[in-house]
Amino acid sequence: MTNIKRDKKPSDPCGVVQSSTDDGAKTDGVVIDCKIDELYYGTFKAVRDTAVPVNRNKITAFIGPSGCGKSTVLRCINRMNDLVRGFRFKGHVHFRGKDIYHPSVDPVAVRRYIGMVFQQPNPFAMSIYNNVAFGLRLNRYRGSVRDKVEEALTRAVLWEEVKDKLNKSGLSLSGGQQQRLCIARAIATQPEVLLMDEPASALDPIATMKVEELIRQLRRDYTIIIVTHNMQQASRVSDKTAFLYLGRLIEFNDTDQLFTRPREKQTEDYISGRFG
Ligand SMILES: Nc1ncnc2c1ncn2[C@@H]1O[C@H](COP(=O)(O)OP(=O)(O)OP(=O)(O)O)[C@@H](O)[C@H]1O
Ligand SMILES: [Mg+2]
Repeated sequence: MTNIKRDKKPSDPCGVVQSSTDDGAKTDGVVIDCKIDELYYGTFKAVRDTAVPVNRNKITAFIGPSGCGKSTVLRCINRMNDLVRGFRFKGHVHFRGKDIYHPSVDPVAVRRYIGMVFQQPNPFAMSIYNNVAFGLRLNRYRGSVRDKVEEALTRAVLWEEVKDKLNKSGLSLSGGQQQRLCIARAIATQPEVLLMDEPASALDPIATMKVEELIRQLRRDYTIIIVTHNMQQASRVSDKTAFLYLGRLIEFNDTDQLFTRPREKQTEDYISGRFG
């Protein structure tokens, strides 16, 4: 099993990551290359003609009106759609140059490298400590679990608020604290990529600001993809933005440029509030 330590390159028992000089030079800093030609749920074509290259240590935002396919594309990136009956797609998702849909790749191993934070904070019904320790134990982490729990909670900017009540239930925290706990849980096992599907939409404005600040801080160590309905949020936190509309990528660009000088008329209409 993987003993995850940041200073060591993780071992790769399930073949998710190439063993040699797999990143950087060859891929121009692109850690995830996601190309969806056609994606179906049963007979319904939900996404088509969408290619998003995701850069290492950058924050990439997916924006677009409800139902345009943001969550669908996000879930493709760590094979969460595999759990949906009738899901199939034509295209590829490469993580560090390797096809994560190759039959030899274990989807559970993919999710160890590419973690996810959901819209509704979903702490497990267990203590704050055990919420964060959970993945470490699952991965048979051999170092000090206590230290790792503190480190993850500190990085999630929650440690000061919970250090005296680690044995209290994770469910006893406020919504914003629960979301930071879920982020601590996701980063404890040190994935490389974090997928966040509207991580602040269930939170009040102050909790939202804290989560946004945390996301910006995490960029130093992680590659982040965030789905958001909130265009101000996308422009505040992200480096790159992908605008999707009716199941298709319309524009992918530097965030500044997309919001100030969009190339496409549909992007301009959307960001200026003319639809959606
Ligand atoms: N499990 C599923 N089974 C069948 N259809 C689905 C499923 N999940 C999503 N869809 C459909 O795929 C399309 C894209 O949905 P998706 O959830 O990706 O949109 P979204 O952009 O995330 O929307 P929202 O902003 O409302 O969350 C929609 O038409 C939706 O109804
Ligand atoms: Mg969604």
